[in-house]
Amino acid sequence: MAEVPLHDVQGFVMRTYAMPALRVFVLEVMSPEPAARFLSSIVSGDPSTPQLTSATPWSVKPDYCVNIGFTHAGLTAMRLPASSLDSFPEEFVQGAVRRAEIVGDTNGSAPAHWKGRLADDDTVHALLFVFAQSREILENVSAALRAGFDAGSAFREVSVQDAEALPGNVAHFGYRDGFAQPTIEGGLPAATPDVLPKAPAGEFLLGYPSQYSGFTYPVPEPADQLGHNGSFVAFRILEQDCDGFEAFLKSASEQTGLDPELVAAKICGRWRNGVPLALAPDTPDVDLPLDKYNSFDYVPTPEVPDAHDDRRGYRCPIGAHIRRMNPRHSMVAGNSGLKRRIVRRGLPYGPPYDPAHPGDGIERGLLGLFIGVSLKDQFEFLMSDWANKGVFAPGLRDTRDPVLGDNSSPDAKFLLPVEGQKPIELVGLSRFVSCRGAAYCFLPSVGGIKYLSQIHS
Ligand code: HEM
Repeated sequence: MAEVPLHDVQGFVMRTYAMPALRVFVLEVMSPEPAARFLSSIVSGDPSTPQLTSATPWSVKPDYCVNIGFTHAGLTAMRLPASSLDSFPEEFVQGAVRRAEIVGDTNGSAPAHWKGRLADDDTVHALLFVFAQSREILENVSAALRAGFDAGSAFREVSVQDAEALPGNVAHFGYRDGFAQPTIEGGLPAATPDVLPKAPAGEFLLGYPSQYSGFTYPVPEPADQLGHNGSFVAFRILEQDCDGFEAFLKSASEQTGLDPELVAAKICGRWRNGVPLALAPDTPDVDLPLDKYNSFDYVPTPEVPDAHDDRRGYRCPIGAHIRRMNPRHSMVAGNSGLKRRIVRRGLPYGPPYDPAHPGDGIERGLLGLFIGVSLKDQFEFLMSDWANKGVFAPGLRDTRDPVLGDNSSPDAKFLLPVEGQKPIELVGLSRFVSCRGAAYCFLPSVGGIKYLSQIHS
């Protein structure tokens, strides 16, 4: 097993910070030399300026964490040599705007509708992520960071996106979130342990054997100084139509006679309190310790020999959001159920939604970070093949992810398998999640940021 130098890896690749506030600065490099000085300052070890957070285990949780990613336009603006720029994977070079159609960012989700000037990808160069234990700390760190990246007109602040945890750690749509994450070999223990094989380090970090046997993803050049221990993130501003979602639950309940909470559980794969359908198919009110919320599979496996055999999806529908996004050991095309895992970070934005007072006109959503060694094989694959197509698993027919997929067609359906009967077809879905902005970033290692800070000296 590869040893991972955790001090060299950006912290959020390997660990959940579990902090209630997040700010994402969208930055444009204006002058590469001062920009390099700012980068140098955040990895200098000087405690009087905010420092980048690595994955080094901490004994006391810090007040805040800082991380940074660069788009290909940003690396170009930092004047990386062409030999290095050309060594990055094509989907990253093209960036989120040009890859929009591939991931289903079309019609209302197309870049023409994005905010925060994220569609002007010539000027989207770096994303600076600040996670904080309180809004006040966030403001203080932001002021210190702004002083740093404004100095010498290093960076221009293109826009800022803020997010804040909702009471009870729920995401909009009312589900408790944050249980399932891959456990990475050589990384930190999972917050909620699971029963799946550990993900090889090379599924999330450049320079290690990947999830495909005998294959390591190519490392951008210069590998030793810049590429190794780096990763990639798809940043997404995802607007959620809470009115539409609640109206669908009501109409689906009227169509079927099922309790709206059961419909909510069937389309996600977890009850809104987070209890997985695979473990509790009939009621969310079960005595399940929190550290067991991730201890399930959809078929019996050597790790979970007593798992209920739910290959037909009578408990958790095959098309439910979490089963599409992580089919675990259930049958999927190419037998690739455990090869498309993704690290999820982020927080909701907008105030809590009250279904008793719909139509308040306030935008709500999720600032989502989807991390993996390959944007193409992980994030893009999940969006294009598993969220927006139905051919990868038996029984899905032409359906899409009910939470995430583009269900704007009036023919859109969700299939609810029922033992001994034809599946129930739920209609009346719509596109509940729309993209309002995106960027693909390279997440250099700590050493990689030092390299970027020195290429002009
Ligand atoms: C606003 C948009 C989204 C909402 C409301 C949402 C909601 C949820 C919820 C409630 C869970 C269950 C909590 C858990 O298992 O920890 C979950 C899990 C998950 N979601 Fe999403 N999600 C969204 C976007 C996405 C996107 C864009 C992706 C991938 C590109 C994704 C991939 C996953 C994965 C991989 C899991 C864990 C599944 C597992 O391991 O069992 N989600 N999501």
